[in-house]
This record gives sequence, structure tokens and C-alpha cells, in this order.
Amino acid sequence: MNILAFESSCDETSAAVVAMSESERTVRSNIVASQIEIHRRFGGVVPEVAGRAHIECIARITKEALDGAGITADGVDAVAVTNTPGLIGALLVGVNFAKSFAFANGLPLVPVNHIRGHVAASYLAFPELDPPFLALVASGGHTSIIEVRTFTDYNVIGYTRDDAAGEAFDKAARVLGIPYPGGAGMDMLARGGDPNAVKLPSPAIPHAEGEPFEFSFSGLKTAVINYANTAAMRGEGICRENVAASFTRAVCLAVTSHLSAALDSTGLDKVVLAGGVAANSHLRAAVGGMCRERGAGFFVPPPSLCGDNAAMIGAQAYYEYLGGVRAGTDLNARATGE
Ligand code: KG4
Ligand code: ZN
Repeated sequence: MNILAFESSCDETSAAVVAMSESERTVRSNIVASQIEIHRRFGGVVPEVAGRAHIECIARITKEALDGAGITADGVDAVAVTNTPGLIGALLVGVNFAKSFAFANGLPLVPVNHIRGHVAASYLAFPELDPPFLALVASGGHTSIIEVRTFTDYNVIGYTRDDAAGEAFDKAARVLGIPYPGGAGMDMLARGGDPNAVKLPSPAIPHAEGEPFEFSFSGLKTAVINYANTAAMRGEGICRENVAASFTRAVCLAVTSHLSAALDSTGLDKVVLAGGVAANSHLRAAVGGMCRERGAGFFVPPPSLCGDNAAMIGAQAYYEYLGGVRAGTDLNARATGE
């Protein structure tokens, strides 16, 4: 079936067409209009500005997605939309547009949780991948370790107590003079640095048997800020590459140690990395290496499917649809959701 999907939970407006069936998972089009340039001068996403930018381009990118897939509304079998979690004013634009499209064309409407969508990006990248598996979703707003039991049965077994991993990357990047969002810039900078040069605290909270796997990224972020401020007060320069590499090492060690322990405790043998931070080359290498050593499967989508996009929402919508999930014309958006 052809699913027309919408994603507008943060600062990317996206529309996509995916063809999904028991034997097919194909991205027919995946248009992403990024607002990064608009928000950069504010140093972060401004919610109201995001909502206004979504509304300006959602009709245009929908046309581009349909044209790119070579179909018209007649060729669409279902409409999918991210309805939670995210910025409420941003979500409402996608929800209302999707609702109108579905209503006008007499199509079923399937609401999708954004985090589930990030995980589903891996179904598109790896057509042979099926649950159960362990997923790490790390983005600008979320950091979760999830036991994905079936396509629609998710058990969250790890989370962050404070900042999300991507938020920490962006804030550390800011200290190093990298413009928002600095995650990709940190990735590049870290390649030229010594990961053992700067001593930084681990963002992994020690794990106790039977308890959730917890992260705390705010201490790591503060340590980088203090390191830079102390050097500035002393009139000393800092090696930005070394700071980026040491920060990245701390994140990679924390994530791999929690994921390794979570593999032990769940008995699962596959790991999926998802979310914008999964584009990080060092994290991909570190988690991939840990999985190889353990003989576990390792799955991470290409960077283009790690960041926010509508194709991943369409992929998850297919499984929600099979499970009977449908929304009526009273569908609303929720800023926070499971
Ligand atoms: O999933 P995403 O596109 O949007 C949210 O749902 O938040 O994630 C965006 C986050 C930003 O914090 C961005 O800096 C981070 O992902 N990111 C990266 C990399 N590419 C994007 N973080 C580290 N390394 C990267 N290569
Ligand atoms: Zn996201």
C-alpha cells in the first residue's frame, strides 16, 4: 500500500510516500524542508517560528512528495502523521494538514509516535530487519533505550534524567564556536582530536540490576562549559579538536556500556541505532564494534534517514495500520507522549 506521511514535530517539514507490504518496504519519495537556517541566528529552535515555517511549505512539499513518487491523491491508500511528541505548534500544522488530506480524499488516517518513527527508519534501510531488538533513539529531544518486542510493542528500559544526547552535542558545540545545530560539526571536529586529552564525567548513571538504564548529559555539558571558561579566565587557549573528541568518547562509552548491559539483561541479540545522533560516525563505529565483539547484529540507517523525515513515519504507520490504529477527524497533537 502507498502511504503518504507527514512529519512536522520540530524544525523539519517533511512529506513522503512509502510503499509498504509484507514483502516490500520502499521509499518512493522523501522530501525534507529544513528550517535550520531560520533558527540558526537564535541559537536553537524557536517554537512559534517553527510552526509558521511549517505552514508556509507543507502544501508545496506534499506536491513534491506525490510528484516524486509519480502518483496523485488517487494513488494514496492511507495518510500518516506524527502527532506526538514534539513542539505543539509545529505538530498541529502536520496533524491538521494530514487530517484535511485524509478527509478530503476519503482515506484512513494513522497517527504515529515520532520516537517509534525513528526506530522504523531501520525497517526501510534493512528490509530483512524484524523485531525483537534493542533500540537506542538519540535525538535533539530524546534519549531512550527501548526493547522493541514487536512492530508496535515498545518497552522503554532506559532514558535520560535531563538533557537529550543531541542537546548535549549542540550545547558543547556552541562552547566550541560551532553554529547550531552543532552535532555534525562536533563529529567532524572530533576526528582530528585526542579522545583522552580532556577528563570529562561519564553521562551513564551506574546501572543496578532490575533498574532502568539512565543517562545524565547535563553534567557532561557543564564540564565542557567549565573547562572552556576556566581556560579563558587563565588566558589559555583550548584545543577544540581534543575537547570534541573527549566529549564524543564520553558519550560513546556511556552508550555502549548501557547497550551492552541491556543486551545482557534482555537476552536480545540485535541493536538498532536511531535518531539524529545516530548519524554520528564515532557512535556508529563504537556501537558497531561492541556488537561485533558480542556477535550481536547491528543496524543503523544511513544518515539521511537518521534525522527527522516523513518516510520513517510512513514505515511505522504501516505496522500501526495493520494493528488497527486509525484516527478520526478529532485527532489532536500532544507535546509529550509515550
Ligand atoms: O532526530 P533529529 O533530527 O531531531 C529531533 O527529533 O530532535 O535530531 C537532531 C539532533 C541535533 O541535536 C543534532 O545536532 C544531532 O541530532 N546530530 C548529531 C549529528 N547529526 C545530527 N549529533 C552528533 N553527531 C552527528 N553527526
Ligand atoms: Zn526526531
